[in-house]
Parts: sequence; C-alpha cells; structure tokens
Amino acid sequence: MSGEGMIAEPRSVHGSEGHAKLKELMHRGTAFLGCEYAILGGAMSWVSERNLVSAISNAGGFGVIACGAMNPELLDTEIAETKKRTERPFGVNLITMHPQLSELIDTCAKHGVSHVVLAGGLPPGGAIERIKASGAKLICFSPALALAKKLMRSGADALVIEGMEAGGHIGPVSTSVLCQEILPHVAKDIPVFVAGGIGRGEAIAAYLEMGAVGVQLGTRFVCAHESIAHANFKKAFIRASAREAIPSVQIDPRLPVIPVRALKNREMENFAAKQREVAQQLDDGAIEMAEAQLQIEHYWAGALRRAVIDGDVESGSVMAGQSVGMVNREEPVTDIIQELVDEAAAALESRG
Ligand SMILES: Cc1cc2nc3c(=O)[nH]c(=O)nc-3n(C[C@H](O)[C@H](O)[C@H](O)COP(=O)(O)O)c2cc1C
Repeated sequence: MSGEGMIAEPRSVHGSEGHAKLKELMHRGTAFLGCEYAILGGAMSWVSERNLVSAISNAGGFGVIACGAMNPELLDTEIAETKKRTERPFGVNLITMHPQLSELIDTCAKHGVSHVVLAGGLPPGGAIERIKASGAKLICFSPALALAKKLMRSGADALVIEGMEAGGHIGPVSTSVLCQEILPHVAKDIPVFVAGGIGRGEAIAAYLEMGAVGVQLGTRFVCAHESIAHANFKKAFIRASAREAIPSVQIDPRLPVIPVRALKNREMENFAAKQREVAQQLDDGAIEMAEAQLQIEHYWAGALRRAVIDGDVESGSVMAGQSVGMVNREEPVTDIIQELVDEAAAALESRG
C-alpha cells in the first residue's frame, strides 16, 4: 500500500563510497542536464504531464513532457503549468512527424525550455537549426551506430539509445547490444543516455561503467503517486510480469508499422483490424504511405489515451516495457529515484 499521508521515514545519509562513485560516473550527465541524478523520466504520452514531470525534476532527476499529439496551445499550457510546479530544469519531447513541429519548437523557445528531445525518426530539415537557435540543448534517439554519428554531425548535443525492452514504440535491437555497438565508439565525444528495460540500479551502474553518462526510464515511473495514469492502468502494471509486455505484430508486409510494446490484451486484435483497414485504403489508392503511417500513429494515441486516462485496459493500449515485472507498488517519485540511486551505489561499492 502507499504511504500517502504518512510522515516520510528519515533517509540514510548518502555519503558512501558507492554514492561518490555514482556521482562521478554521472557527472557529465548531470552537468549536461543541470540536475542531481542523470536519470531522465522518459516522455510517455498522456502520462508525462505537469505532475509527473515536475515531481521527477523536484526529486533530482530530469522530467520530460511528452508532447505527443498536443497542438502548440496545449503544449504552451503544459509547459507553463510544469514551470509553476518546479524551478528545476525539465525537457520537452517532440515527435518528428508531428505536422506542427516548427510551431511546437517555437512554443518551447518562447518558454526558454532548456532541453528538447526529438523522437520518432530523423529530424526533418530545419528542425535542428530551429531548436539550436532557441538556445536549447538537443537530445536525439539513435537506433544504430551509423545514425549516432550522423546525428552528432547534424548537431545533436546528446543521444538516447533505447533498446527493444522498452515500453511504447520500439526498434528491433536489445539495449545490451545497442550499448556494445554504440558506446565504445561515441561515448567520449557525446553524452549518451541508455534506455529500455532498466528496472533496478544495478543495471544503471553497469551502463554507466560501459560509458553512458546517464539513463532514461519510463515504465518504472508509471506507478508513481504523482503519475495521473488511471488506477486500472497502474493495477495492470503492478500485476504484470516481464513476459506479458509484448511487441505488436505487423499484419501486412506492405504496411510497415513500428512495433509497440504493450501488455497483452484485446487491443491487439483491434490493432490487427486497424492495419487491415489502412492496408485496404492503400491498395485502393485512397491514401499515400505517409498518410497511412499517420493514421497508425493516431490510432496509438487514441488507444493509449483510452487505457491511461479512461482506464480501459482491455480495449486500450497498456504500453509497458519488460521492466514492468519490477513495478510492484505505487510509490512517490522520490522513493523510486532514491531506490535506484542506492542500488546503483551499492553495486558500484561492491566492485571494491
Ligand atoms: C506508456 C508509455 C508511453 C510512451 N510514450 C512515448 C512518447 O510519447 N515519446 C517517446 O519518445 N517515448 C515514449 N515512450 C518511451 C519512454 O520515453 C522511454 O524511453 C521508455 O519507456 C524507456 O524504457 P522502459 O519502459 O523500459 O523504462 C513511452 C513509454 C511508455 C511505457
């Protein structure tokens, strides 16, 4: 059960050798983000809004607003409301295929957002320049070594490498393989944050030792007290084991859809039906491929909203990473971050 309303237990003093090592290994990450721990709260559509984002930043991590399908006015309000709740830095995650990307970048610039994360494929022409001109630091997702190098040349200030263990849209490669493929070659030249499948601090310690400057977690933050996710959504997380968080299936080879990792439920049949409907429209020449992909993304936004906001965890999409098996209760963000930090510190200290 939650400890809401109870007096918090006094925390141990974090002066151990492990904590000092952790601080040192995270130093480039914390300097880049301007926070205490180089732990990004990965943007999660509908979940990463003012409450969770400010709570993560206030707890010493780095919260990131998920813009998702928001229009510039909604994003403007979300940033303003987040600023009312924290004085610490936070980021905004924008999806590259959003039709109003330029306006969304301008909204971030208007508020002086310090870090913009671009997700969902290579940034379109002009987007990088626009972000950098605003003075914001640019963080990009890199699904392969060649792309990491290309993004560095294009002006990315930091990279996130996210493996297929993650919740939401995923690539085909695991976190451990991506880390081996990318970190040794670029970690000295650019700060790299590792995401996907991180549930405990021991994994954080390991990725830092491989050269990462920090990590990004999504799934672990869904059941935070401060997360507005519906009680049914949180319950589904608490009950689920790793093997229940599975990728969506591509029904028609003509329609390349990016797989989404979510908890197994009836929604997966709905997605199959949606793919057949869109493939038929493509066959009939009624729509182009770009429109087909946009339709699929709109489908996901709606399906995730049904589960996160309305609590329909059967016909909505319960996007979750494999670390869902390590989410066992609802708890405050401060406890989640402190637990991760203490586990990472203990792991580093045990190395001697
Ligand atoms: C419910 C949910 C929604 C997500 N929505 C987004 C999103 O809108 N944009 C994005 O870049 N990543 C999104 N992600 C990915 C997270 O930002 C993060 O990178 C990922 O959760 C990290 O892996 P983990 O789930 O194993 O911790 C989402 C993840 C989840 C679980």
